Amino acid sequence: MKEKTIFVCSECGYESPRWLGKCPQCGAWNSFREIKIGRKKRWTEEKEEVLSLDKIELTGGERIPTGIEEVDRVLGNGFLKGSIVLIGGDPGIGKSTLVLEIARNLAEEGFKILYVTGEESPEQIKQRAMRLKATNKNILIFPGQDLQEIKEIIEDTSPSFLLVDSIQTVFSPEFPQAPGSVSQVRECGLEFLRLTKKKKITTVLIGHVTKDGTLAGPRTLEHMMDVVLYLEGERKSGLRILRSSKNRFGSTEEIGIFEMSEEGLREVKDPSLHFVDLNHGEREGTAYTVLLEGKRPLVVEIQALVSPTPFNIPQRVTTGFDPRRLSMLLAVTEKFTGLMLRSMDIFLNVTGGIKIQDSSVDLSVVMAMISSFRKKALPALSVFLGEVGLGGEIRPVSGLNKRIEEAKRLGFNNIYIPSASSPVKGDKRLKVYNNIKEVIESCFG
Ligand code: TYD
Ligand code: MG
Repeated sequence: MKEKTIFVCSECGYESPRWLGKCPQCGAWNSFREIKIGRKKRWTEEKEEVLSLDKIELTGGERIPTGIEEVDRVLGNGFLKGSIVLIGGDPGIGKSTLVLEIARNLAEEGFKILYVTGEESPEQIKQRAMRLKATNKNILIFPGQDLQEIKEIIEDTSPSFLLVDSIQTVFSPEFPQAPGSVSQVRECGLEFLRLTKKKKITTVLIGHVTKDGTLAGPRTLEHMMDVVLYLEGERKSGLRILRSSKNRFGSTEEIGIFEMSEEGLREVKDPSLHFVDLNHGEREGTAYTVLLEGKRPLVVEIQALVSPTPFNIPQRVTTGFDPRRLSMLLAVTEKFTGLMLRSMDIFLNVTGGIKIQDSSVDLSVVMAMISSFRKKALPALSVFLGEVGLGGEIRPVSGLNKRIEEAKRLGFNNIYIPSASSPVKGDKRLKVYNNIKEVIESCFG
């Protein structure tokens, strides 16, 4: 068979037989790259057999827990034997650390692990391994980038786990493109997929995310992976969240929470306690709310600083919160309370490095701003749950009972909730309101 040329969107992996200016799948412009696929080699080298469906034996189903609860939860009780997993994330976020910790635990269970490192020298890995107490003889380090060599090493060592750090450094000499290019990443990804299934090893590929938040090359791999995980967080804060954007064998609702420490990633078993410090007393400009991250409720602190601007144009600076949503909340608050916020500088901060995508925090954002504006703390042990609508009304949020339970567990005893929801009656801790004006009056008189 002849070599074939196709065009692949470097943003989302969409394939087309022709070059396109705009990707019909993700809408990216100028993202198509020409790639050659060497079908000839792959299909003639090792032929697969044809199997009739009634003769195929099921071997799968075996789960291998990593012993790191936060990872196992996201994977769905550990790795499925013979699966291929991509872990993406920004450079420096802790992917190599996480993977080495996984390797350490599996090595202690007696599994043989081949760690292919194309980025760091074996000495660098050793240094990290010493910090993580992972210097186990079952972990084999191979500093290589050439796919052909890696395949030979896999033949020679027959590992149970193959870790590739990172997929962007691996290249197949059959293709002229540079490592990390869409075609190399894709071809190597396909080859690892094939090896994984054929040899029934479990493979973890590490991929770097580009600045704009997409896994440029590796994004094209997503569709061939069994599981795609992302490790997220702000580099300067220690918080790390492991999410899954695809999982053929489990829920994508689960998240794992870690903190980067001297000894690697520490599991955060009680995230709410991690994010808030309830002993510091009430402070003006601070409000609490409960997020739902996947299935997990999480209490976070919203801090606002509202002060008259010394300039013509007031500043709006947010950390962890969408500035457009803030503008909307400002306009609504002004309109329905009469408070003049437009000439104020507003700084809004979600503590702990969390990025909020959940409109259920609206009410807490409004209350933090009003508290700072009025220079008065909110009532002690208050938590605010509710989306704010354009009419100033407080709208219901998903998973309200879960959030309420979490707030109660941490000892909050003023839980402000939307009236449209129907929680348990007779609980004095629940304060039910229709709109932001009522809540403000109730808190500040
Ligand atoms: P790394 O795993 O190398 O990130 P990635 O592979 O995603 O690029 O780790 C990133 C950072 O973590 C690095 O700046 C050092 C820090 N770190 C710790 O704080 N504690 C540790 O125990 C280790 C191993 C790393
Ligand atoms: Mg790394």
